[in-house]
Amino acid sequence: MIEFKQVSKIYPNGVIGLDNINLTIEKGEFVVIVGLSGAGKSTFLRSINRLHEISTGEIIIDNTSITRAKGRQLLTIRRDIGMIFQSFNLVKRSTVIRNVLAGRVGYHSTIRTILGLFPPEDKELAMRALERVNIIDKAYTRSDQLSGGQQQRVSIARALAQEAKIILADEPVASLDPLTTVQVLEDLKTINVELGITLVVNLHSIELARQYATRIVGLQDGRVVFDGPVEQATDERFKEIYGQPYEVKKSEKIINTPTA
Ligand SMILES: Nc1ncnc2c1ncn2[C@@H]1O[C@H](COP(=O)(O)OP(=O)(O)OP(=O)(O)O)[C@@H](O)[C@H]1O
Ligand SMILES: [Mg+2]
Repeated sequence: MIEFKQVSKIYPNGVIGLDNINLTIEKGEFVVIVGLSGAGKSTFLRSINRLHEISTGEIIIDNTSITRAKGRQLLTIRRDIGMIFQSFNLVKRSTVIRNVLAGRVGYHSTIRTILGLFPPEDKELAMRALERVNIIDKAYTRSDQLSGGQQQRVSIARALAQEAKIILADEPVASLDPLTTVQVLEDLKTINVELGITLVVNLHSIELARQYATRIVGLQDGRVVFDGPVEQATDERFKEIYGQPYEVKKSEKIINTPTA
């Protein structure tokens, strides 16, 4: 369970990233966060595992405040939270299996992991994770020799090997073609349904959000402007909220980004 209690985030330059967010995400939900560029989606996601510090309020993960956690307690909470990025964040020159084993570092001493001394159980776990995302045949391939979709599946496997209870994914399919997009989202859906892993995913496409989410949260200027089940996230409702057809294609997004 993830609880946001009166959470606000003001960046040092005065920009409001999050504005009084109050919501609870239950175990096993597949929540998709939508909103126009700059709405606060990444800020929201990164606040959950404290990649970003919030300014006020509190975030509680499974009844423990991550906001107040320090040292070992913070590491223990973070161990339960996997993260997937648009750019995959793999060690490109390392093999797939080594990248997946990186999900185990939170469980061992630094020196052991630097030396790559993972116990056989970890290797088992890593192989099973690769099996689940259908790329076990690539285990000993260098990560930079994989396609984008395959690399993203490796990062999902890394989160699985980590035995994460929550997976945060920031635009996980933004750099993928439509077919690969569907494969990666299907993988995420499968681990959500079969393993009960809670998913919080930022997506630009409301259509994909409707297809895969159980619940959609719409942000605008750091505020929650929509929070409900997929059935309520209609085109009309989103047009009402955003004052324009919601869908933002990646190419449009790039063109619309101010260069100044
Ligand atoms: N490090 C930062 N310093 C100052 N302002 C920031 C910083 N990061 C983000 N912001 C601002 O906070 C607001 C929310 O940004 P955020 O990155 O969360 O948006 P987003 O919804 O993820 O957008 P996108 O769809 O473009 O990824 C924006 O106005 C942005 O300019
Ligand atoms: Mg973002």
